[in-house]
Amino acid sequence: MSTESIALPDVAPRPLVEQLHQWVITVDHKRLGILYIVNALVFLVFGGVEATIMRIQLIRPHNDFVSPQVFNRMFTMHGTTMIFFVCDANPVWIRKLLDTADDWRSRYGVPASQRF
Ligand code: HEM
Repeated sequence: MSTESIALPDVAPRPLVEQLHQWVITVDHKRLGILYIVNALVFLVFGGVEATIMRIQLIRPHNDFVSPQVFNRMFTMHGTTMIFFVCDANPVWIRKLLDTADDWRSRYGVPASQRF
């Protein structure tokens, strides 16, 4: 049995732009899961800004920080942002990870997410 080690060729690190491009076009379920998490966290910040605008408006009676129309817009967009862009993203990335878990599929015959 040979114990000689094989020298691997030096691989130059890929340029940043190419690395980012790989993230954008990826079909790797783990990377997609990470993108979903990042997406949810970014929109959590947006939803937080919308909530803060509402909080400032409601901090004292008859405040005129924003108009009634803008308050209504913040209400609608805060609810929509939080539910559809933050909460909904979580089950999707969990499914992304579980559906491709071969051990679950072969053991139970169904994708793991259907066991929820
Ligand atoms: C997971 C979903 C949500 C999260 C994490 C969330 C988070 C928050 C946070 C942190 C505040 C600030 C609270 C404060 O200032 O004391 C807030 C305020 C508010 N949220 Fe949400 N929210 C969510 C969903 C919703 C939905 C679906 C609606 C309505 C459709 C809504 C309506 C409001 C309103 C009206 C305020 C202002 C209340 C106030 O500051 O007195 N939120 N939200």
